[in-house]
Amino acid sequence: MQWPEPRSFDVDLATGLMAGTGSHYQKRLGDLAGLYADTRAFEALAASRGDEVVYEVTDHRPNANAGDLITGVTRMSAGKVGDEFFMTRGHIHANVDRPELYFGLKGHGLMLMEAPDGETRTVEIRANTMCYVPPRWIHRSVNLGASDFVMLFCYPADSGQDYAIIERSNGMRTRIVDDGKGGWQSAPNPAWRARTHAEIDALLASHTEMEQAR
Ligand SMILES: [Fe+2]
Repeated sequence: MQWPEPRSFDVDLATGLMAGTGSHYQKRLGDLAGLYADTRAFEALAASRGDEVVYEVTDHRPNANAGDLITGVTRMSAGKVGDEFFMTRGHIHANVDRPELYFGLKGHGLMLMEAPDGETRTVEIRANTMCYVPPRWIHRSVNLGASDFVMLFCYPADSGQDYAIIERSNGMRTRIVDDGKGGWQSAPNPAWRARTHAEIDALLASHTEMEQAR
């Protein structure tokens, strides 16, 4: 058996990147059509800043074996589309029984989490805040600040990501918007569609199926 080598990586807080990982994923503003409530504001912003990288991930993926870990750093730009703060697409782990740990390195943001039945939680994150995302929660990062928001993350290597779960419900149930007083507030997403009992049962069963598939 080939054992993975111990490694170390330098995190550059100025750039929000982890060096020497070999894995670098970038998301540009223009790729995020349909994510934000204010379509007109998005189109106006994308016309001038569409090529701008608004969030990126550098990570270390030793393998996809159960029990191993993917570890990395995510950097998010500051900004708003209309009154809605910049955010990631968000996902639930394809193997829904897998959790994730985040640790704030720089800036100010939050983790928006939604359970399959629509229960919602927000956890504010600043430098040195640790955030535990339990299994079965959809999660999305939001930058609330005026500068880059940078976090370390760590999750089981066999988690996988399902992004479509958010699209199927017309977004997450809650949007994070400017409160007009220098802070943020939650706002309901009127387009949100609740998952049926059958959809929730199928979602929770996916863990069992993945376990059996191995
Ligand atoms: Fe995740």
